[in-house]
Amino acid sequence: MRYRQLIRDGTQVSVIGLGTWPLGGHMGEMEVETAISITRAAIDAGINLIDTAQAYHPSEARLGRALRDGYRERCFLASKVIGDYSAAGVQNALEDSLRNLNVDYVDLYQVHHPDPAYPFDQTMEALERLQEQGKTRYFGASNFGVEHMEAAFSGARFHTNQPRYNMLDRRVEAEVLPFCERHGIGVLAHSPLAKGLLTGRYRVGHKFPDDDERARLSRFQGESLAHYVDVADRLKELAADKGISLVQMAIGWLLRLPVVSCVLVGAKSPEQVREHLVAADVTFSSDELARIETILENTPGAMYDS
Ligand SMILES: NC(=O)c1ccc[n+]([C@@H]2O[C@H](COP(=O)([O-])OP(=O)(O)OC[C@H]3O[C@@H](n4cnc5c(N)ncnc54)[C@H](OP(=O)(O)O)[C@@H]3O)[C@@H](O)[C@H]2O)c1
Repeated sequence: MRYRQLIRDGTQVSVIGLGTWPLGGHMGEMEVETAISITRAAIDAGINLIDTAQAYHPSEARLGRALRDGYRERCFLASKVIGDYSAAGVQNALEDSLRNLNVDYVDLYQVHHPDPAYPFDQTMEALERLQEQGKTRYFGASNFGVEHMEAAFSGARFHTNQPRYNMLDRRVEAEVLPFCERHGIGVLAHSPLAKGLLTGRYRVGHKFPDDDERARLSRFQGESLAHYVDVADRLKELAADKGISLVQMAIGWLLRLPVVSCVLVGAKSPEQVREHLVAADVTFSSDELARIETILENTPGAMYDS
């Protein structure tokens, strides 16, 4: 595993992190025992960044079980607050998360989405107080645009942002990533496989079970899916030429930018985690990068319906 700096004080994390949204069963059924083996397989392989959230219920409680037996000490644990971003709201949410996770502190506490109903500066001040209380070591944002980050800075100098970034959604390249780079904000990229579109596994007409969020996402239906399947098939050929899988190429390609400290990948099995590991060492020639650009050129940036 490779490690990169996430925080300006020099704190490093693994370039591949474990995203735990699927561990809560939101991308199809997940047994508790499977959630535990996925988490432990990741940590045993050198992945130290584990990302969860209040909104991923019951992922936090499952992680709490997985992180027993000395695993908690081996990871950089991140969680998020959602909904009520008032000072009391973030304090209560963090205390709930600590109880669910069965830990005394998290390493990173993030605001899940920008919500102008709560002044960004006041929310960041509240997070800074939680840091002072020792309940989180660092604090940050998620899905924040430049204007949100600027407003948040006037409250406290937060440490990280967690934007959606993958080969099919590159909107953050224009402003968000350059802003993070200029201001030393650590970047955790989420949804790197576009929730499975960049695995090349799903074909037109695929039906997801009702308990899988993808059953309701328009990008996994009809013409939209047909378009992404076509893009994924072309990318898959290029990956095969490099002797790697599309999954490994999609993750490794995000790491071509030094501003990306960590790519948060979701997994449904320990085998999927093991496939991700190779991505930490993938490099690209300028010719390969140009071929990827050509394939992605006709992919609309704003593909997402959630
Ligand atoms: N801050 C935010 O608002 C936000 C939003 C979304 C996600 N996130 C974070 O980012 C993490 C990653 O996003 P995500 O989990 O939603 O989606 P993702 O990482 O883009 O895709 C994960 C899914 O792809 C499939 N997959 C993973 N590895 C594979 C492999 N080696 N081979 C074949 N298929 C594979 C699995 O589903 P199947 O096997 O069922 O296809 C897995 O559940 C989340 O878990 C979460 O921590 C944050």
